[in-house]
Amino acid sequence: MQLQDILFSQGFGTRRVCAGLVQQGFVAVAGSVCEDAGALFEAEGLAFQVQGEPWLYHAKAYLMLHKPAGYECSQKPSTYPSIYTLLPAPVRQRGGGAAAGVQAVGRLDQDTTGLLLLSDDGKFIHRMSSPRHHVPKVYEVTAKHPVDAAQVQKLLAGVVLDDDPKPVRAADCVQTGELTLSLVLTEGKYHQVKRMIAAVGNRVEGLHRSRIGSLLLPPELAPGQWRWLTAQDLNSIAAPTATLSN
Ligand code: URA
Repeated sequence: MQLQDILFSQGFGTRRVCAGLVQQGFVAVAGSVCEDAGALFEAEGLAFQVQGEPWLYHAKAYLMLHKPAGYECSQKPSTYPSIYTLLPAPVRQRGGGAAAGVQAVGRLDQDTTGLLLLSDDGKFIHRMSSPRHHVPKVYEVTAKHPVDAAQVQKLLAGVVLDDDPKPVRAADCVQTGELTLSLVLTEGKYHQVKRMIAAVGNRVEGLHRSRIGSLLLPPELAPGQWRWLTAQDLNSIAAPTATLSN
């Protein structure tokens, strides 16, 4: 692929801007500056630098973000800053056009923290968000009132939410402290955890998503930080486990 097209595909601006970056000597491949915008490279696995920043070519983008509190999962946030401002411009602009950049796979509330996946692969986003695929997600809940065994039993047996007579149940639920529990959901209804906890007479004070499928939020990824998903991460998501004991 031509170097200018590689840059364009990775979100470094319009074709003209990308050609300009190369011609002005801002792009290095394998440590050497290349000023020929039409120079051909094997894109897959290509490591290059743009204005000194190292970059690795990704045909499709799959990444994880440790969502901090106080950010909205929306391109057009109403009150809080958008999670997309936490990503570098090329990741936000990949592909160009109206539907540019990566999109969050589902949403977390403004005050929820934890593991959020983003991608520009429409099929992946659809597969991960579709209720038919039942990808389990683990939530760590801090409740306002003490948690008890009856609440846990009700969450496992199923509770009725206000918008649907069909009960929703936790795939697993374990009390982890006086005020805390871990909850596994395989669907993603609006404010589902908060509404389920309210339905058993308690209230969510803090909510953190720690796992999607078998993929854990890595402890070294601080709130606000993101990283590319590895092939192993993608396998972990695809090999989901719905219980908390494995
Ligand atoms: N359930 C909620 O209530 N909020 C979230 O952010 C995610 C799941």
